Amino acid sequence: MTRIPDPASRIPASRNRWGFPDLGIGIGLRTVHYPHILEQKPDVDFFEVLSENYMDTGGRPVWVLDQVAERYAVVLHGVSMNIGSADPLDRGHLAKLKALADRTRARWVSDHLCWTGVLGRNTHDLLPMPLTEEALRHVARRVKVVSDVLERPLMLENASTYAEFASSSMPEWEFFGRLMEEADCGMLLDVNNVYVSSFNHGFDPEAYVDAIDPARVTQYHLAGHTNKGTHIVDTHNDHVIDRVWELYQRSVRRTGNVSTLLEWDADIPALEVVHAEALKAGRYRREEEKSRREKDASKPAPSGARDRLRKDKVARVS
Ligand SMILES: [Fe+2]
Repeated sequence: MTRIPDPASRIPASRNRWGFPDLGIGIGLRTVHYPHILEQKPDVDFFEVLSENYMDTGGRPVWVLDQVAERYAVVLHGVSMNIGSADPLDRGHLAKLKALADRTRARWVSDHLCWTGVLGRNTHDLLPMPLTEEALRHVARRVKVVSDVLERPLMLENASTYAEFASSSMPEWEFFGRLMEEADCGMLLDVNNVYVSSFNHGFDPEAYVDAIDPARVTQYHLAGHTNKGTHIVDTHNDHVIDRVWELYQRSVRRTGNVSTLLEWDADIPALEVVHAEALKAGRYRREEEKSRREKDASKPAPSGARDRLRKDKVARVS
């Protein structure tokens, strides 16, 4: 496969703290789509790779990943860093994650603000954090260690939650904001998860996205879910609902265009269907681009440019 120019080199940097590029609209790399991707090389802006699927394996999966990373921009997304746990950080896991990030030239590495197990047991669930001062200090310390080991800032995603701790003393958006300041990390803002958790716990999803520092948002997630009436389950098996698109639009107005990825993880349809759903984000991204250009055009020109303009006019008159 021939090497193509780095997609990031032709993409403007987002307004985020690290100048990470806006990669466009991506989808998750899923096994069922391997043949389509390898044979048809679809015009997808970037792929998100589930880190754990490639950390303890070789052979065909890693061969496919190498082909994908050769052609497309790749970001790594994990589910078992266990950043919120009281267990020691798994240094072996982090070393393998760093090796994978280096191998794929990952634009950034993300995991979830959650804990997945304790006392060495992995529940394979993204469990909610107690939103307390003590937990905040604990996670901030660990995020700094992880960033040092990975030699890149860590991006954390807000998980969908179904239970809360009675001991929590602040809303999740405040916990996130303070964590990102303290540990200098970024956010993968999953607007579907904001909506799911807001429904399950009864908070205002708009207040959540409005409270996030736009300079810390380096990626968006969108997904479908299953509404059970009394609660919502984050199933990633359907189209994105209108309320989530509205939330995305609201957040994009604050952050500007940021790399956006659609997650579809159960009952996965053909790649074209997943990609078409993801591309719906383009409508909001174009609106944002138009509004940014209009704002830029209405700004007064810098004084140097004004002086040059004046001299030019004088020269033409004389
Ligand atoms: Fe997500």
